[in-house]
Amino acid sequence: MNFQELAAQRCSIRGYRSDPVDEAALEQVLAAANLAPTAANRQPFHLVVVRDPAVRHALGLAYNRDWLRSAPLLLAVCTEPAKAWVRADGKNYADVDGAILMDHITLCAADLGLGTCWIAAFDPAQVKNVLQLPEGIEPLALTPLGHPADTGRPKLRKPLTAFVHHDRW
Ligand SMILES: Cc1cc2nc3c(=O)[nH]c(=O)nc-3n(C[C@H](O)[C@H](O)[C@H](O)COP(=O)(O)O)c2cc1C
Repeated sequence: MNFQELAAQRCSIRGYRSDPVDEAALEQVLAAANLAPTAANRQPFHLVVVRDPAVRHALGLAYNRDWLRSAPLLLAVCTEPAKAWVRADGKNYADVDGAILMDHITLCAADLGLGTCWIAAFDPAQVKNVLQLPEGIEPLALTPLGHPADTGRPKLRKPLTAFVHHDRW
């Protein structure tokens, strides 16, 4: 699969089979995440791999969807803003770095035939509590990782002309 095909194939999966994800596939996903670029190469993030059904169930309380609980694995991408590069105007790039990490995860998973879904609409206090995140570590995104039991929704995108500008706005 070339990159265009991979980008077209990746979609948000909101239904999973319960059979386990091969450990070698998980390792590949984690290795791809570790190749993500970060501002000033600070790598200001942590990744929690959640296998324990009790912890997965508790995370389901932070984002109450049955499909979240159906996957055998959940990944939580967390940032450490104090370690991130900060631009001269004060903009902290931790969330950008974490988002690129997440994108590597979703694309690598799709390449392996696995499903993911970016989840940001969770209750952060609950996630911090369930995962026992230390002070200064922020949950940015959750995703299930598993074998899709759903084909995803059709890709609805703006035409390029709606957002691509040439030379000037
Ligand atoms: C930053 C971000 C946050 C998202 N949060 C959620 C979420 O909380 N719940 C959900 O079901 N999907 C979430 N999504 C998935 C988007 O709805 C989805 O990517 C978008 O509709 C495009 O569909 P596609 O991923 O299938 O191409 C999120 C995606 C991104 C990039």
